[in-house]
Amino acid sequence: MKKILVTGGTGFIGSHTVVELQQVGFEVIVVDNLSNSSIDVLDNITRITGIRPTFEEFDLSDRKKTAEFFSRNKNIDGIIHFAAFKAVGESMEKPVEYYQNNVVSLLNILENMKENGIRDLVFSSSCTVYGQPDELPVTEKAPIKQAWSPYGNTKQMCEEILRFSTVSLPIRSIALRYFNPIGAHESALIGELPLGVPNNLVPFITQTAIGLRKTLNVFGNDYDTPDGTAIRDYIHVVDIAKAHVIAIQRMIGEKGKSKLEIFNLGTGNGTSVLEVIHSFERVSGEKLNYSIVPRRPGDVEKVWADTRFANEELGWKAELSLDEMMASAWKWEKALAPRK
Ligand code: WQD
Repeated sequence: MKKILVTGGTGFIGSHTVVELQQVGFEVIVVDNLSNSSIDVLDNITRITGIRPTFEEFDLSDRKKTAEFFSRNKNIDGIIHFAAFKAVGESMEKPVEYYQNNVVSLLNILENMKENGIRDLVFSSSCTVYGQPDELPVTEKAPIKQAWSPYGNTKQMCEEILRFSTVSLPIRSIALRYFNPIGAHESALIGELPLGVPNNLVPFITQTAIGLRKTLNVFGNDYDTPDGTAIRDYIHVVDIAKAHVIAIQRMIGEKGKSKLEIFNLGTGNGTSVLEVIHSFERVSGEKLNYSIVPRRPGDVEKVWADTRFANEELGWKAELSLDEMMASAWKWEKALAPRK
């Protein structure tokens, strides 16, 4: 049974990927410092799959602890690296913490892959590397523009580190550029669990509807879009998780075509903030309380993916609709309610 290390495996996308990996027969070991997730995610993964992942808690930006972990865990066949800070707005306020955490943890992973003969790495990247694309839908060949935030810049830097490291080291990597992951596992046992006030749109919508927030602020309706609100490519977190399984299988199965491959993970559909709100109201039957406020600094106007490369090369395609995404997010919020 192949063993995969999932860093950040108690996080939003990490936990859904652990479930998908276990369900196709991988053994999973999770490392997380629990800075933005809760240990009881492991219990809920176990309730879904019946298999409790091995777990170790430490900070991957700690070079000594990371080396010590790898010296005790020799038989790792591949790594999926999620562990990173990921809030665009927060990164504007805490740039040094973002560079320290997001870049150094990747360097520690690469150093230990080299030392321990681990070849395959799936890296969690982001559409934020594109900034505001000149052409839409955006393909993987689009120019990388100046980052709009330290968060986006750390993803650009990490991709560059991979580009050079895979040339000179016996390491292959697949970088997956997520668009906007939303929704939750159908069991409503795992989902997006932002600590504190959510930065992201969908948890803010569901927390407003459940009564945890007074109103949703819609950041601007003066964009050059059909209804004036900003457009994103929202994609179900389970569709994202499935792509990670395909990516690690691709490398382990020697199917990769170059030492670094980069894929967009989106649906190819651009959806506005108001369209997301209307989808939520449709699937929940709730009227959402929202108000239009000025734009949020750092937001791009519109971005959605050209998904052809991932569809054709990985044989992967997002399957779940916006309504299914919003219905799963609402089911998850209602399941959380008693725990709040
Ligand atoms: C979406 C839209 C906001 C909150 C995220 C992640 C980033 C990356 C890409 C993975 C924007 C609007 C939001 C609110 C609002 N993902 N909005 N009111 O900024 O696209 O970035 O996806 O790597 O890590 O942060 O997502 O959900 O914050 O915003 O009007 O209360 O919703 O202006 O147009 P974003 P988001």
